[in-house]
Amino acid sequence: MNSVYQEPTLNFSRSQQLMAEGRELVAGFTQSMMKKPEQFALGRFPVYLQSGQGAEVTDVDGNRYIDYICGLGANALGHNHPAVVKAITDNLAKGIIHSLPTPVEITAARALTEIIPGAEQARFFKTGADANSAAVRLARFITGKEKIITVGYNGWHDHYMFDTPGVPEMIQRYTTRMPLFTPQDEQPLLELVSKEYEQLAAILLSVPYNRTLTPEFVNQLRNLCKEKDVLFILDEVVTGFRLALGGAQEYFNVRADLVTLSKGLAAGMPLSAVTGRRELMSQMEKLQVSTTFGGEMLSLEMCVAAIDEYRTSGYIQHIAELGRQLKNGVNSVAAELGTPLTVVGYDAIPMFLFSRNPQEHVKFAEPFVAEMAARGVLLRRDVNFISSAHTEAHIVHTIQAARGALSAMQRAGLFAAQAAQVAAGATV
Ligand SMILES: Cc1ncc(COP(=O)(O)O)c(C=O)c1O
Repeated sequence: MNSVYQEPTLNFSRSQQLMAEGRELVAGFTQSMMKKPEQFALGRFPVYLQSGQGAEVTDVDGNRYIDYICGLGANALGHNHPAVVKAITDNLAKGIIHSLPTPVEITAARALTEIIPGAEQARFFKTGADANSAAVRLARFITGKEKIITVGYNGWHDHYMFDTPGVPEMIQRYTTRMPLFTPQDEQPLLELVSKEYEQLAAILLSVPYNRTLTPEFVNQLRNLCKEKDVLFILDEVVTGFRLALGGAQEYFNVRADLVTLSKGLAAGMPLSAVTGRRELMSQMEKLQVSTTFGGEMLSLEMCVAAIDEYRTSGYIQHIAELGRQLKNGVNSVAAELGTPLTVVGYDAIPMFLFSRNPQEHVKFAEPFVAEMAARGVLLRRDVNFISSAHTEAHIVHTIQAARGALSAMQRAGLFAAQAAQVAAGATV
């Protein structure tokens, strides 16, 4: 692209140096695909972070940012929250993991049954993918059927990432991935459940973030599953402890058969869970579902403390209110400047969208996150998170930064081609 685009001027020299070492020593370079430098703006975005406090983080070069990536959604309470520090320090001396179960497994399960609608039992794992795999195995066992439908990202395990290298081709027979990005995607999903229900064990739904589904549709899907003996599993790895205290079930007033949780479950400590009715969950006992670190105590203690904090601090209202302010503020700046950015989706999980065409979106989102980083704001190119540690001052700064970032992109002519297309009637 020919432009007079000014590169942001932050110093990333330590990040670059570490990046060379990381490429040499760390297989695949990052532990999560979503942390790869290519996911942001190569050379114009920090690669390594050093530390965090509240909603702010510092990179290895000493640059500071308001963080909306929040550990990919795990840091629901921000960094170094007193409840986190207390839960870890108060319990560390007891040990980290023991040779037999410990009482906190019961306390944490009870805390979940108290806030997750319909939950009568819980079972703990370490990652979102683990919890989803356990829920799928349980669904197959209970229904005696083998196929699943997935919606959205559910983790890296074979059932979900069935069409990537290294996965046996036959796995594809068992999973159908369906989109829900537009209202037009809804009918085909309902039709597929109606058509394939005799082989379908479950639908594993993680809601799209680019729009809010309606309670009517979610309940229609749920009721169809019930009628056809297909388990309705809500993947609430992201939406849990965000859309409402009781998650997407409460938000949509719907009841899933099984719910999977992670990310905010233990406010940054590695933990995931499957919850559901006793009648279903108790069948887990008949399965080979087992993991060494599932009973690790600090994460379970943190889960109990985090749920207490979510219940008592006004956290859910706080993240929704700040998310709304962020969406409204950035949307009105973007509209005033005549740029194609819109912030969409659920208030607490705002998605920054330049175009519904993925290639077109990245063309703008990449320089945008670079310009925002240069103005002290760390954003992903699409879905972002608000934590309890964000304040109105952070939101005001971020809206001002968006004005600066979009204006800089405009001055550099980045939107000129798009504006010409719009004038000519093309959709972007
Ligand atoms: C909706 C959803 N489900 C499942 C997962 C997988 O979680 P994990 O990366 O902990 O395995 C993710 C990860 O981002 C997710 O967003």
